[in-house]
Amino acid sequence: MTIQEVALALVADGKGILAMDESSGTIEKRFTALGVESSEDTRWSYRYSLVSVKGLGQFISGVILFDETIRSKDKQGVAFTELLAREGILSGIKVDMGAKDFEGHPGEKNTLGLEGLPERLKEYKELGASFAKWRAVITIGEGIPTDDCIAANATGLAKYGKMCQDAGIVPIIEPEVLIDGDHTIEKSFEVSKKVQEKVFEALNVQGVALDGMILKPSMVISGKECAEQATPEEVAAQTVACLKATVPLGVPGCAFLSGGQSDEQAASHLNLMNKNFTDVPFKLTFSYGRALQREAMAAWAGKDENQDLAREAVLKKAKVYSEASLGTL
Ligand code: 13P
Repeated sequence: MTIQEVALALVADGKGILAMDESSGTIEKRFTALGVESSEDTRWSYRYSLVSVKGLGQFISGVILFDETIRSKDKQGVAFTELLAREGILSGIKVDMGAKDFEGHPGEKNTLGLEGLPERLKEYKELGASFAKWRAVITIGEGIPTDDCIAANATGLAKYGKMCQDAGIVPIIEPEVLIDGDHTIEKSFEVSKKVQEKVFEALNVQGVALDGMILKPSMVISGKECAEQATPEEVAAQTVACLKATVPLGVPGCAFLSGGQSDEQAASHLNLMNKNFTDVPFKLTFSYGRALQREAMAAWAGKDENQDLAREAVLKKAKVYSEASLGTL
């Protein structure tokens, strides 16, 4: 498949992406919250259940894996990527090395991982990856984000994007504006618009082909601690307005992260966007991590015998978000 075909397949009608690419630190945090130890065995048990769901391919176009997981196999020696391929699901890989403290910029992060990236991409491609993910993190607060932080993150995303396309891999470009804080939805709009504009400027400078990439944005939403929470209709309207103002023609689609929203919010916001705005020139779908996995992980609860419960839970959630991506929920 060409990168253009992969990008289109990722945002095919009624389909979205399952992000299960938690780094070792993040998966440990999620397991610990459930009282489960994070070991190679427990991570395998949980993640095996997610890549072996019969019928998941009806709703999921691609799954984002972590380095450990793209190398994993089932008990018969079949690679996880092959199990997914049998369901018609594409494999993706998280390639950034995490958002680190941005030197000289208190409270801000910059994502690292460009060093040696072409070699890693080559290996991931051999392991079956057809797309990749890089997450940049922008925090809203007193005097932040700074222009320096936005510029550094935009450049990182664009250089990564170019390296991916040179390796025949579709880059998912993820500039996440965090939901943390007491900012208003207006502030979220202002920052998201600026960030997305800078990201597309940087993609242009690096020569990233727009039809061979997917944008993974955060929604335009009130900060978690904001006293006045915007309605779901406002979130849908502001998010669509922001993307229409910044996403150039040619980008096949945007696949949102859930970013700490509840499952219900993640479903209703996406549904309202697709229901109320039918003139958007690119697809609007999901690339959810927590919103797809929350129930499944709780159902699994560290026990192999609960793997089927986890499978049922993730399939159920995938169906809900699939409907939301069509505006028919
Ligand atoms: P959440 O949906 O939990 O925000 O995760 C998506 C993701 O891939 C973050 O990088």
